[in-house]
Amino acid sequence: MLELRHIHQRYADQPLLQDVSLQVAASEVVALLGPSGSGKSTLLGITAGLQAPDAGSVWFDDQDITALAPERRRFALMFQDFALFPHLNVLDNVAFGLVEQRHSRRQARALATQMLEVFGLAALAQRRVWNLSGGEQQRVALARALITQPRVLLLDEPFSALDADLRVALRGEFRARIQAAGMAALLVTHDEQEARAMADRAVRLVDGRLLATW
Ligand SMILES: Nc1ncnc2c1ncn2[C@@H]1O[C@H](COP(=O)(O)OP(=O)(O)OP(=O)(O)O)[C@@H](O)[C@H]1O
Ligand SMILES: [Mg+2]
Repeated sequence: MLELRHIHQRYADQPLLQDVSLQVAASEVVALLGPSGSGKSTLLGITAGLQAPDAGSVWFDDQDITALAPERRRFALMFQDFALFPHLNVLDNVAFGLVEQRHSRRQARALATQMLEVFGLAALAQRRVWNLSGGEQQRVALARALITQPRVLLLDEPFSALDADLRVALRGEFRARIQAAGMAALLVTHDEQEARAMADRAVRLVDGRLLATW
């Protein structure tokens, strides 16, 4: 289980997160709501280990992992701006995490090829990512986040660039995979309908505090 305990963060003397605590169980999806600038992406970054909080701790399965490097957490973070590797093609962007986990390049590409099928990207495997459409890039980022079978899945506005049909299809795909793999998932979204469709419950960041919403 993922647990955030009493997280505090401030920038330039302005408090952003104040005593934020949250638990997300295995197979649970929690939606993280809140206005623009309220600290949602910051909280995901702290959870992923990209930045240390000013105070507070991050726990996984009763271990304090606050000081653990991001690549050792087996968490996947899908960034709001995708952060794909521009010099790699679609297939190698998706395979990257597996190569990092010491799979052979051949095996990584074979698994990535399957993942591309799931996300309707098979025909784009050899394309460079920088000339893909926004929705195509978003699907590459989703495939890349799921392929390493993370223990925790952190999604920052994951479906925002997709058309309505694709969005509905991928929500279902994600839910099923999260449950099958027993992942804990934190989903940042502005879309209340999406939160309702995907999440078991929702919390909202308001003035630096986390409020249970439903
Ligand atoms: N490293 C930093 N230094 C200074 N200020 C920062 C830093 N990182 C984030 N901030 C500020 O903290 C606030 C919260 O940013 P954050 O990206 O977490 O918001 P958000 O809730 O994800 O917003 P959005 O919905 O627009 O994505 C913003 O005002 C941002 O400018
Ligand atoms: Mg954000």
